[in-house]
Amino acid sequence: MIEIRRLDGADLQAQLDALAGVLADCVAGGASVSFMAPFPHEQARTVFEGWAAEVDAGGRVILGAFDGEQLLGTVQIVLALPPNQPHRGEIAKLLVHRSARRRGIAQLLMEHAEAEARAEGKTLLVLDAVTDGDAARLYARMGWTTVGVVPKFALYPDGRPCDTTYFFKEL
Ligand SMILES: CC(C)(COP(=O)(O)OP(=O)(O)OC[C@H]1O[C@@H](n2cnc3c(N)ncnc32)[C@H](O)[C@@H]1OP(=O)(O)O)[C@@H](O)C(=O)NCCC(=O)NCCS
Repeated sequence: MIEIRRLDGADLQAQLDALAGVLADCVAGGASVSFMAPFPHEQARTVFEGWAAEVDAGGRVILGAFDGEQLLGTVQIVLALPPNQPHRGEIAKLLVHRSARRRGIAQLLMEHAEAEARAEGKTLLVLDAVTDGDAARLYARMGWTTVGVVPKFALYPDGRPCDTTYFFKEL
């Protein structure tokens, strides 16, 4: 039984190690999510501390997926965008621990993220994902529209280049 919760400042402090654990596990598993290997736990924790500060400032939403008290996955909505894009949000860092994959957790996180974005007054969401990767399949299945592919947009943690596909969804 998976529960999705929006994490406020106190929740984020309490879950920092668990969130960092999920991020570090994804990078260790080869996910192209901004960071290069090796990516130690402490570094992942520092990154989440920065995002938590943005949540406190109202510019970002972080959701957690829980099995009981154990956090297994997370996703973010970037709310703070330029003044001429108040209706738009960005989905970022959809991450599920390798031990918890293929149970529908990412899909549940995305359903809740879209609902949260709508509740925040957003009518358009944009995201990017590794081309033809597990996440890209999920987004296509959930009705996101493919914009196009940017070749060699980023790197995998081991340094290999990685194509990226941009998607959008009108809410
Ligand atoms: C991409 C990612 C978030 C998907 O997480 P997940 O929780 O495994 O996703 P889901 O369980 O919703 O869906 C994954 C697959 O499991 C299947 N599935 C879902 N529930 C299932 C169940 N109960 N039994 C069997 N299969 C199931 C889905 O149909 C999907 O199948 P597909 O791979 O053929 O498309 C995860 O692989 C991840 O964290 N990757 C590394 C980080 C990353 O790349 N993030 C994306 C950034 S854009």
